[in-house]
Amino acid sequence: MAQLNNGVAASVTQKQPLWLLAEVTYRCPLHCAFCYNPTDYDKHTKNELSTEQWISALRDARKMGAIQLGISGGEPLLRDDIEDIVAEAHKLGYYSNLITSGVGLTEKRIQAFKEGGLDHIQLSMHDVTEDISNFITNTRTFELKKKVAAMIKAHGYPMVLNVVIHRYNIDQVDKILEMAEALGADYVELANTQYYGWSLVNRDQLMPTREQLNRAEAATNAFRERVGNKMKVFFVVPDYFSDRPKKCMNGWGEVFMIVTANGDVLPCHSARVLPGLTFPNVRENGLEWAWKESPAFNKYRGMEWMKEPCRSCSEKENDLGGCRCQSYLLSGDAEMADPVCTKSPNRHLIDEALLNSQKPFLREQPIIFRTDKNSKKYVEGDKE
Ligand code: FES
Repeated sequence: MAQLNNGVAASVTQKQPLWLLAEVTYRCPLHCAFCYNPTDYDKHTKNELSTEQWISALRDARKMGAIQLGISGGEPLLRDDIEDIVAEAHKLGYYSNLITSGVGLTEKRIQAFKEGGLDHIQLSMHDVTEDISNFITNTRTFELKKKVAAMIKAHGYPMVLNVVIHRYNIDQVDKILEMAEALGADYVELANTQYYGWSLVNRDQLMPTREQLNRAEAATNAFRERVGNKMKVFFVVPDYFSDRPKKCMNGWGEVFMIVTANGDVLPCHSARVLPGLTFPNVRENGLEWAWKESPAFNKYRGMEWMKEPCRSCSEKENDLGGCRCQSYLLSGDAEMADPVCTKSPNRHLIDEALLNSQKPFLREQPIIFRTDKNSKKYVEGDKE
């Protein structure tokens, strides 16, 4: 296990992890059709780290230089020790962010978070209509989320909303932004769906057309012009609609370190889909070893692993060949250029997916929700 990736690590300048994402549980009361959690998440739910193990991981990562802490899941509030984790994070000097659906946030808990020093709460919202919000999460949580938004504001937190955008809500972006304004939002991230995990399973049903995307972007720009600095709106363009791939996670093992519910240490959310990699686990390996020496973290660090067309590409330092997981999930080859790149021999896979998004009948197909038992199709006005 201790071998370095054929000497790759020695030739790469290692950076320190700045971000620690603690995916404290994969359990979730919502069943979102676009969830990025692994589709086999139930394999990783049984053996969650204890409070002490989380606190120890936080300490180790802080010593290595991590300063930003995201606490996510699943739904982190399903654990009853988030107050302890938050308080310890504050003592250690992290800037901490709770990433939540809002389910489980009560007056008592938010008060405890405030006293413990939680810096930031990011709440997910799904649509301006109860219909679509409840449909896409396969729950009845729309009204609850609005109440939680008001609670967050009342406790003096900046109002930060994350709205995943897809075919079912993209035509309402203007109204979603108006709703956010009415809720007093300070920041809104309109995060167009990226296709991993459950969203890849549902890609044909979730992917908007290019025209829809263009209209949504224009509506966002018009809104920005109207509200000025009062509210910051981020419109994250899905990479399928680009010609160039994203520098995924800002580079494999460059700034992000993710510790999952069962203690696996990953360089990105989806890394466990990649074949032939054994990921370190905090129960057996120190975080420092995981980051600096583990073969998994060194496998795609830097550029030595690249083959053509990435190896001789003038853009390789900017995008690092794009996303390894996307390349593997779409083409079966983790070391090929991300199919999003127009220089990739696999770009046709993206173009075919974009063509499929033009077919209106696909909306009528059932969606597979995050639990595998409840696929159904959206019927307008259906409140069930
Ligand atoms: Fe794994 Fe992009 S999500 S490298």
